[in-house]
Parts: sequence; C-alpha cells; structure tokens
Amino acid sequence: ALRYPFHGEHQAGIVTPAQDRLHFAAFDVTTDSRDALVELLRAWTDAAAAMTAGELVGAGSPLPYDAPPDDTGEALGLDTAGLTITIGFGPSLFEKDGVDRFGLRDRQPRELRRLPHFPADNLDEARSDGDLCVQACANDPQVAVHAIRNLARIGFGTVAMRWAQLGFGRTSSTSTAQATPRNLFGFKDGTSNLKAEEPEDLADFVWVQEADDPAASWLTGGSYLVARRISMRIETWDRTSLREQETLIGRDRVDGAPLSGGTEFSEPDFALAGRDGPIIPMDSHVRLAHPTHNNGTKMLRRGYNFTDGADALGRLDAGLFFIAFVREPQSRYVPLQTTLSRDDALMEYLEHTGSGLWAIPPGATEGTYLGQSLF
Ligand code: HEM
Repeated sequence: ALRYPFHGEHQAGIVTPAQDRLHFAAFDVTTDSRDALVELLRAWTDAAAAMTAGELVGAGSPLPYDAPPDDTGEALGLDTAGLTITIGFGPSLFEKDGVDRFGLRDRQPRELRRLPHFPADNLDEARSDGDLCVQACANDPQVAVHAIRNLARIGFGTVAMRWAQLGFGRTSSTSTAQATPRNLFGFKDGTSNLKAEEPEDLADFVWVQEADDPAASWLTGGSYLVARRISMRIETWDRTSLREQETLIGRDRVDGAPLSGGTEFSEPDFALAGRDGPIIPMDSHVRLAHPTHNNGTKMLRRGYNFTDGADALGRLDAGLFFIAFVREPQSRYVPLQTTLSRDDALMEYLEHTGSGLWAIPPGATEGTYLGQSLF
C-alpha cells in the first residue's frame, strides 16, 4: 500500500510526489458559530488521518443497522493509493462583506487577499473562491472522491460545497524521482518546477516563515494555495503547426528541451539569437514565466488536466486546473500572473474561468487539529 504520513511539520499534498488524480473542493461555512467551525476542523482532521492511513471514517464499523454508516464505503478494499488531504482557509473566512464572522479578522495574513482581476480573466463565480478548500490527491480517482465525499458528509450543517473540480493526469513533478508528465497541449510540464529535494528554495518560495507577518505567525510552516481553472482551446491548438506550438511554449515538444538547445533539464539561453531574433521568443511562456524575468520568483506547481465534457459547440471543455503553492501570493504570484495574462502569446489559447486563494496552515501533530494555531 502506498501511504504518506498525515502528521508532520507541513501538510501532506504539497511536496508529496504529485499523485495522478485530484478531487478539489471549495466549501462555504454556513454557520456563524466559531465552536462549530472548530468542531468541524477537529472532525475533518480525524477523518483525514484515518483515510490516509487506510482506515474507515468514524466508528470503524458499518454497524449499527439503524443508522447510516459513518464511512460511505466505496473505498473499502481499495489501496490507499497515496492519498493526501490538504486543507486551506480562504480570505472570506476572516472577513466577508465587512463582517468578522468568527473573530478572526485581526489574524488574517496580509498576503491572504482575494486575487485581483487579471487581464483577460473570464471568471465564473460558481467556480471561484470559498471559505475553505480541500485538495484530495491519490493515484486512484475513487479514493480521492471518497475523501471529499466523506468530508462533505461530516460537514453537513456546518459547510456547503461551493464548487469542485476533478483532475486526471498530473501536470507537474514535485520530486526529482518522478518523470515529467505532459499537459493537454502535449508538452512536458513540470520540468523546471520546485522539487521536494530543494529545501532551501522551498524555504524561500513555499513555506511561510515566522518573520513574514507578525499578525499571522499561526501560519508559520504553512503556505498559500493558488488555484486557477484554465480552459484550453484544444481544437484551435490541434490545428496549429508544431513550429508555432514550440514557439509559444519556448521548448521542444518531444524532449522538453529549451529551444536554445540541450536536453530537458538544460537551462534556457534567452540571449541566444538567430536571424529573426531571439531563439526563445520574447513572448513565449517559459521566457515570461522564468525566474530571471520575475525578480527570481519560483513556485511549486501541482496542477492537473481536466475535461468536463463538451460545450454547446461540440468542443472539449478541457484544460489545466492550475495549482501552485507559494509563500508570497500578493508580492510574487500576482505580478507573475499579471505578466503572463497580459503578454504570454499562449493566452490566445487559454481562458481563465475559475480562481481562488487559500492559506494552508502547517501540518497537524498527533493530538492536534489542522489549523489549531489560528484559534
Ligand atoms: C513552465 C505550460 C499556465 C507558470 C511551463 C512549461 C509548460 C507550461 C509546457 C515548460 C515545462 C516546465 O518547465 O514545466 C503551461 C500551460 C498552462 C500554463 C499549458 C495553462 C494552461 C501557467 C500559469 C503559471 C505558469 C498560470 C503561473 C502563473 C510556469 C512557470 C514555469 C512554467 C513558473 C517554469 C518556467 C521556468 O522556470 O522555466 N508551463 N503553463 N504556467 N509555467 Fe506554465
């Protein structure tokens, strides 16, 4: 059985080698009771610890006959498949429409503000934001769905699911031991990503540090999760020449090497020029996203492919559910996304349709609950 520990300094599901499947859900809290919210977090922590250990939720037995079983049952007999459950707090948990719902307003981190409207955003309210988020990842979709379903069941009366997204096929590697997967444009994705084996970069770019924000020291050892549902114009892309595709990305499609040469993990040479200008075009995705053009910014990307059926015109409703873990969403992610949304030539094939930002509290230790340092 593939099992990752639930307890630890950081929550699982961040530097954990990216699993193959995702069920992501955003919830709104429907009670104004702080105690009920704390009770929910306790219950979610217990259930998440049990499920990631391959145990049943709740009483651990389907009996008694006269009550609905605690565990919904569809993961019985399945391998845990590397299940991780990661929980986060949205800006609206701290303050919504000017109301301090749970007495948390003065503990809201400076960096936890609703993401701004980026150029060309076409966001669907019904796929954006939420008081809480839960990211469930596993190598078996049924195991990931079982996790979200049971947390939703436990939360009945305290939270309501606001929106959810299924993902298949990881679009990143988060460990050097993993092969680089591909996104739906057919390109390797995750080559130049932060990896579990780079603790110094993780401390700089993923984990919130004690001194970052005095009002939010409860978040030390945590992170922020950025989610963007990005629709991809698959049919248009599939009628685009290979040359154009590689020019837009800035990498070779088969091997993933930068257009400036070398192999997959060679550093791109942005200065290298041919007869018509730079070999890696100025408006290509990797040039604009690269740390050298963004004040050194790096992030841990952990997204998934999705398809949600077809649209009314017979096109695939497909894309990339972008997830990134970052230490400084406002001062580092927002400027980078602004640059990409405005200048990236790839945007002609993309449409951002959902968005959210959550603070990811540090991991729980034995006997504590997720987010305990906040309350
Ligand atoms: C790199 C595709 C959205 C940030 C890459 C690479 C591909 C790719 C193929 C090169 C391989 C790699 O290094 O991983 C896509 C597609 C997207 C998308 C198809 C949308 C559907 C985004 C977004 C962001 C982003 C929204 C963040 C704001 C990055 C970064 C790199 C990267 C930071 C690494 C650049 C480097 O250091 O060389 N992307 N990407 N991407 N992408 Fe994206």
